[in-house]
Amino acid sequence: MSVNLFDLSGRVAFITGAASGLGFAMAEAFAEQGAIVVLADVDAEALRRAVGRLTQAGHRAEGVDLDVRDPRQIRMRIDEVVARHGKLDICCCNAGISGGPPFSRPEGQIENIDLATWDNVVRINQTGVFATMQAAAAVMKPRKSGRIIVTCSISGLVTGSISGYTYSASKAAVIHLVHLAAVELAPYNIMVNGFAPGPFLTNIAGGRLHREPETVAFMASTVPLKRVADPSELKGLALLLASDASSYITGTVIPIDGGATAM
Ligand SMILES: NC(=O)c1ccc[n+]([C@@H]2O[C@H](COP(=O)([O-])OP(=O)(O)OC[C@H]3O[C@@H](n4cnc5c(N)ncnc54)[C@H](O)[C@@H]3O)[C@@H](O)[C@H]2O)c1
Repeated sequence: MSVNLFDLSGRVAFITGAASGLGFAMAEAFAEQGAIVVLADVDAEALRRAVGRLTQAGHRAEGVDLDVRDPRQIRMRIDEVVARHGKLDICCCNAGISGGPPFSRPEGQIENIDLATWDNVVRINQTGVFATMQAAAAVMKPRKSGRIIVTCSISGLVTGSISGYTYSASKAAVIHLVHLAAVELAPYNIMVNGFAPGPFLTNIAGGRLHREPETVAFMASTVPLKRVADPSELKGLALLLASDASSYITGTVIPIDGGATAM
């Protein structure tokens, strides 16, 4: 009998920023492999549509309102998942926003960085991710089991022509959080990994990629594969990191970038 290493039947997954883009792709991938998926997002209308897509396809999906800027709300939502389903197996710390232009543009140069924008990006991309990791670890530790998956970015690995100081610094920070938590949580059989996407066609930055073909073409030109990715192309890696297929992988941040960081 063959074993499906990627089977997630009966596993419970919580995904922040799951109403759109990469978060939705992960929710769909897990649900397709039998998981119960809890989609959390600040955009209530998009969340309703996203959950509807999954339930109409016959999957077990729930939506919960969540603003990751509020750590108490994160903890409450995760505690509610455990109260409803008895456990949390997989937590994707994914909600994130863009953070302003690169320094190739005047408004992205160091003296012009807007610190109000900086604070908001850090609250969502860094503190929001950390608070989600914290809440997940708190319920996973006693069970000595779990997977925490952090959406990082190649902008946190290398400097480049697409992202500015604010976004890149927030993503570099969460890469280190993956390393720290992986080491602390290894004795509890909790694997902590991240992935670092290159350009994916999502609704990030207010959906500007859908309106600006020239921006998409420029991003594609920065990647050896010469195209931006569809969110569904994350599914394989997300399943790897969430499933028994990665039983000896922890503390890594895997680029999924069409070769961009190899250049
Ligand atoms: N698209 C890319 O090219 C790319 C590249 C590298 C990394 N990423 C990262 O991927 C993650 C997902 O982004 P995406 O590209 O799918 O964008 P997206 O805008 O399509 O999805 C992000 C989701 O997060 C939600 N969100 C935003 N702020 C939130 C908050 N405060 N609380 C809860 N939810 C909130 C949004 O409502 C949205 O549904 C982000 O962390 C982003 O930085 C994206």
